[in-house]
Amino acid sequence: MNNLKGKHIVLGICGGIAAYKSVSLLRLLVKAGAEVQVVITPAGKEFITPVTLSALSQKPVVSEFFTANTGQWNSHVDLGLWADCMVIAPATASTIGKMAHGIADNMLVTTYLSAKSQVFVAPAMDLDMMAHPSTTANLELLRNYGNIIIEPESGELASGLVGKGRMEEPEKIFEVLDRFFSSKRDLEGKKVLITAGPTHEKIDPVRFIGNHSSGKMGYALAEECAARGAEVTIVSGPVSVKAANPAIRVVPVESAREMLAACEEVFPHVDIAIMCAAVADYAPRDVYDHKIKREHIDAPVIHLVKNPDIAATLGKSKREGQLLIGFALETDNEFGNAEEKLARKNLDMIVLNSMRDKGACFGTDTNKVSIIRADGTTLDFGLKSKREVAADIIDAVLSL
Ligand code: PMT
Repeated sequence: MNNLKGKHIVLGICGGIAAYKSVSLLRLLVKAGAEVQVVITPAGKEFITPVTLSALSQKPVVSEFFTANTGQWNSHVDLGLWADCMVIAPATASTIGKMAHGIADNMLVTTYLSAKSQVFVAPAMDLDMMAHPSTTANLELLRNYGNIIIEPESGELASGLVGKGRMEEPEKIFEVLDRFFSSKRDLEGKKVLITAGPTHEKIDPVRFIGNHSSGKMGYALAEECAARGAEVTIVSGPVSVKAANPAIRVVPVESAREMLAACEEVFPHVDIAIMCAAVADYAPRDVYDHKIKREHIDAPVIHLVKNPDIAATLGKSKREGQLLIGFALETDNEFGNAEEKLARKNLDMIVLNSMRDKGACFGTDTNKVSIIRADGTTLDFGLKSKREVAADIIDAVLSL
């Protein structure tokens, strides 16, 4: 495993006790043959000296907009263009907030704002700061901007308290970066259709039947496929996540019927289709054209009718060489139900996730899946970030 040789990496370091771990990360990257440019915040220099960092990276450390003694201007734009990826480790609550809101008052944030490549953010802070709604919201914004958050671990913190906030270990961050470069272009020339998010089935102009799907799993799959060189179309139900990679085309839809129509248009032209959407199985038979008023109707009855099964419909028209992948969201008899869906929908592979697993399925940034292939072979994975799960799924698709 060495995909980092010759890669240009900007390592951003903020002012936190975990800055000492950045030294190990820097050593691992340099040892792997990467060219690393360290950018450190003024607070970062209180924790780790630029001398140590420049000795290890063999490059002057950048911190200020101007080099004090020469007056030379350090161009954040050049650095942003030079980087094949940027990793900010540790990322403090303050820097995460500045990145989320474009407060460009130091070299690290200006470099981040001009970075054209993938940015990885490894937060490190005290558990209460980590759990604060402002940190959670800022991290969510960063995710929506397409950054990859390397989740902190739970454990003993510098304050002596125990909880979530320890920066991920340098070896793990190194692995994430190595994997990012390894997976790059093995879907070059392939076209992929992905369904994502929930569907909303209208009851009246203001109400609908829906579910808790956030779209995170589907969009993570789309980002992974695009990063590997595929041309990706997401047919997406209503979600707040956004696609970061410009190679991803998003077709927004609302209902299952709209999703089916969009998929039927795209499916004949793709090599791989991955059905990740949580499609409502039923829709109201009649849609009120005005808001149902409680003053007028005491106990409205909503008659439901079955929605079309999108995966099964595509399964019927699947041509030779096309791969159709489904998901199974289960609460019980997980493998039995998944195997039944795999066969009934004419899928080549099904990704099983269970509501019984903590941290899996709806809304979370993590998932835990098993993959069942049509030949009956099975792969089981532990709890991982949805982007890592997406990588495992694509590896399995490519093995078919
Ligand atoms: O969006 P997130 O918050 O990240 O959550 C991710 C997820 C839990 C939604 C995702 O991992 C997942 O499990 N998606 C499939 C949800 C689902 O509807 O599963 P199912 O077992 O009911 O459906 C089986 C398969 O048939 C799925 O591929 C589904 O997309 C497809 N289907 C289902 C019903 C229908 N009418 N048409 C379909 O195409």
